[in-house]
Amino acid sequence: MKALKERILRDGKCFEGGILKVDNFINHQMDPILMKSIAVEFVRRFASTNINKVMTIEASGIAPAIMVGYLLELPVVFAKKKKPVTMENMLTTSVYSFTKDRSYDVCVSKDFLSKGDRVLFIDDFLANGNAAKGIIDLVEKAGAELSGMGFIIEKAFQHGGDYLRNAGIRVESLAIIESLDNCEIKIR
Ligand code: G4P
Ligand code: NA
Ligand code: NA
Repeated sequence: MKALKERILRDGKCFEGGILKVDNFINHQMDPILMKSIAVEFVRRFASTNINKVMTIEASGIAPAIMVGYLLELPVVFAKKKKPVTMENMLTTSVYSFTKDRSYDVCVSKDFLSKGDRVLFIDDFLANGNAAKGIIDLVEKAGAELSGMGFIIEKAFQHGGDYLRNAGIRVESLAIIESLDNCEIKIR
């Protein structure tokens, strides 16, 4: 996706440990025009897929996910990182965060994810794929089906994408970062 790649090269900033900051248009300030183009591209790529629900994980996945849900006219469910006080009817999984070096719980209500659902997962970043693995676990626990996973930015050097594709999951990433070595952004 040309506009996205150009924006990453223009406004993206490299940080220690292979972190790409995109605070100017995705993670802090958001560009809704670019976000709409991103959603249009996801819809195009998953056009042949049978989906009845869009899913994401809070917080940064919500913006692209709701744009996709709006275009497809489908509900959008976001997995929560904080357990609600009442835990009845919730599915929970544990996700290890590589950047924070700790695990956290992610949960979703059985009211909004259940057998018969065909889920398209959307998120901003695919790094090691731990968040994605958590979603796969929640979808399995719900008895639902994962139709595909779409990421705005995939960091190929962290191999979450390899894991998901080897597991037979349809993965679409709109910009694939080959390397951030020497603070130089290399996009495939
Ligand atoms: P993983 O899920 O692919 O294994 O990634 P990891 O645990 O390493 O990432 C933890 C968080 O950091 C995720 O957001 C993920 O989107 C984000 N992240 C990973 N790599 C980068 C990067 O290079 N740049 C930026 N800006 N974010 C990155 P989160 O903590 O779940 O928070 P939220 O922002 O979605 O609320
Ligand atoms: Na995220
Ligand atoms: Na993030």
